[in-house]
Order: sequence, then C-alpha cells, then structure tokens
Amino acid sequence: MKTLLIAAAAFITPFISTLANAGDDALLGEARNVATTLPPKLLASLQEEIKKSGLEGAIPVCKDMAPKMAGEISKQTGWKIKRVSLKVRNDARAIPDEWEKSALEDFDKRAAAGESPAQMEKGEKVGSEYRYVKALPVQQLCLNCHGPADQLSPAVKSVLGQHYPNDHATGYSVGQIRGAISVRKPL
Ligand code: HEC
Repeated sequence: MKTLLIAAAAFITPFISTLANAGDDALLGEARNVATTLPPKLLASLQEEIKKSGLEGAIPVCKDMAPKMAGEISKQTGWKIKRVSLKVRNDARAIPDEWEKSALEDFDKRAAAGESPAQMEKGEKVGSEYRYVKALPVQQLCLNCHGPADQLSPAVKSVLGQHYPNDHATGYSVGQIRGAISVRKPL
C-alpha cells in the first residue's frame, strides 16, 4: 500500500506542478498585458502634446496624465500600476521598494553587459501578491527631458526646475533603462 501511494504521488506530482506553473504563466501573461498598455498610450499623448504646446508644455502629460492613465488601467483590470526608477524625478511617487529596486538593479547589470532592455521583465509571486516589472528603455524622444542636463532646452530646464527641485532623472542616453512599469495584484 505504501509503495502504491509513493508510486501514485510520484505519478501525480508532475501534473500538479505543471498546473501550478500554468497558473503562474497565466498571471505572467496578464501582468505583461497590463504593463504594456500604458507606455504606448503615454507616448501618443506625449507626442501630441509636444506638437501642440512644445516640449516644456508637454511636461504636465508626464506629471498628471501618467498617474491618471495608470489609475484608469487599475480600475479596468484590478492591477495596481505605477512607474518606478533608480534615479527618480518625482520622489513622491516613483521610489522603488526593495523588490522593484533589486529587479531594476538586475536590469541595469544585464544592459551594461550588452543585453537589449526591450524585453527585460520579471514576474513572480511575492507573499500574497503577484508582482511584475517591465523595463522602460530610453528612446530618442525621452532625451528631451531625461538627457544630459546641459543639453536640455532652457525652457524645459526651467519648467522641470519649478516642479522637481530634487530631479535625479537626467543624464540618460538611448538604450539605457529609465525605469520600469510595475504592476501588482493580490492573489
Ligand atoms: C516632455 C518631457 C518628458 C519627456 C519627453 C519624457 N519624460 Fe519621463 N518624465 C517627465 C516628467 C515631468 C516626469 C515626472 C512625472 C511625475 O511627476 O510623476 C517623468 C517621469 C518619468 C518616469 C517615472 C519615474 C520618475 O523618475 O519620476 C519614467 C519611468 C519616465 N519618465 C520615463 C520616460 C521615458 C521612457 C520617456 C521616453 C519614451 C520619457 N519619460 C519622456 C518628463 C518627460
């Protein structure tokens, strides 16, 4: 009887772990979907606003629209969503917690070793939540507000200075990692 039970357990365990993995894969897919909704929407409004009101006029898009859009996506999906960075501009909302910080540090190490940041992500169960982060690579457009401080236009510099006296989010170049989209959901 005992051998039979052991045999049965040996037979069933792989199925159970396959099922558990399938659940994790589904969560990973869901988290990835939620996280990839925000950047293209934000980019579109940013480009539109730059056309209408110039770079400095588009700063409020990053300041007010980003959290508003994130709030809407949260409402629709049940996932909390925010942006985090190791070098923050808005220290009231973008400072990473320990889990996010270690993921961001790992992304930076991999980028420094030559890996393209476009696909970098991390998703796992942490306590009673599922957590996921996706790297946000610096593109040409981003340099207008996140590039080397001495290359920002005087108008951009002045508006940034008014809103973010403690700004750490300049000095980037294309291909570096500006930060990450971070999403989480209670299980
Ligand atoms: C028009 C200027 C402007 C452009 C262009 C711009 N940003 Fe920003 N970015 C800002 C401002 C302003 C904030 C602070 C927003 C806030 O108050 O939450 C910010 C914040 C962020 C944050 C949140 C973390 C932090 O430091 O507060 C990330 C991530 C980010 N930007 C990524 C990007 C990326 C990636 C691009 C290019 C696709 C980009 N930004 C282009 C102005 C800009």
